[in-house]
Amino acid sequence: MKIQFNVLDRQYQKFQKEYDKAVLKTLRGGFYVLGPEVDSFEREFAKFVGVKHCVGLASGLDALWIGLKVLGVGPGDSVLVQSNAYIATVMAITMVGAEPIFVEPDENYNMNVDKIEESISNNTKAVIVTHLYGQPTSRMDFVQKICKEHNLYLVEDCAQGHGSRYDGKMTGSFGDIGCFSFYPSKNLGCFGDGGAITTNSEKIANDFRVFRNYGSEKRYYNKVIGTNSRLDELQAALLRVKLKHLKELQDERDSLAKKYLEGIKNPLIKLPLIADKCVPVWHLFVVRCEKRDELIKYLEQNNIQALIHYPVPPHLQEAYRDLGYKKGDFPIAEEYANTVVSLPLYIGMTDEEIEYVIEVINRFEV
Ligand SMILES: Cc1ncc(COP(=O)(O)O)c(C=O)c1O
Repeated sequence: MKIQFNVLDRQYQKFQKEYDKAVLKTLRGGFYVLGPEVDSFEREFAKFVGVKHCVGLASGLDALWIGLKVLGVGPGDSVLVQSNAYIATVMAITMVGAEPIFVEPDENYNMNVDKIEESISNNTKAVIVTHLYGQPTSRMDFVQKICKEHNLYLVEDCAQGHGSRYDGKMTGSFGDIGCFSFYPSKNLGCFGDGGAITTNSEKIANDFRVFRNYGSEKRYYNKVIGTNSRLDELQAALLRVKLKHLKELQDERDSLAKKYLEGIKNPLIKLPLIADKCVPVWHLFVVRCEKRDELIKYLEQNNIQALIHYPVPPHLQEAYRDLGYKKGDFPIAEEYANTVVSLPLYIGMTDEEIEYVIEVINRFEV
């Protein structure tokens, strides 16, 4: 048996007829950019997250950097971000000319919220928490409180967390802005690139609508220097189909994760934990192993593809050598980078496939 890390066409096949119908309807409808499908998706997704507004964009990275721009974050400012963040989150900060201040993660791979206050300086303007791997950041009420007390913007990077909840409330509804990616492998993925923001602020939503369309509110009149970052009609139409079925898709992910949690019994493997009041969505099923490279090799020999999210933390990336960090500066992020492994977990994964992975992992020894 050969197990790939992800098999995206199985998701397509699951609701193929509905996707095909949505595409044909859009093609025949004559609106391809900023039309009725984007309008409807924005309304439906805002409702799903439990906020007043959603604005569709071209990617998750755009949601983050335009977000910082709209909030007025720029040169001379600093933004707190977790030291094991995905690179896009850090790039969004440096794209607007601000400085990333790294905060070490907790045992759930999210920002250690107890370290936020000590990382704040006079330059700090915002905190970005990433709900990494689909695990909501814990104690979001506490994070909100700190941001309020210190007059900081709170931005949630929800690119991996569609539908995850803290204390019954959906992620993407805690911050000033929730930033989503609809990259195909995301839990709510489209069939190309796409993104969106969620917010309760009408002003922020309007600023995004203007900024995504060359800074224009009225055609050919430009208020600000914006960009082109529009979710297109085809992707919005496809996302509407998937959003309708997201609960069913989530149930499938939950049941696969449960199989791993109950089935993996190898003491060399550290399973993911779920923090108090948190409901994860299992975008990735990430385990840790001291002998990670041996494990990956062994899985490969058994025809199982596992990936590393992520092998190099941002402060050690070549792109950020000018920040002047060195090995040892963020030991927890570095330890995670050296020990994390993501196991295959995808829509359409069969019982036989996941049981095979569990059985192979349980036989792993060094
Ligand atoms: C945590 C996180 N943030 C931001 C992004 C950026 O999203 P996109 O690839 O749509 O630009 C991604 C996904 O790639 C991500 O996983």
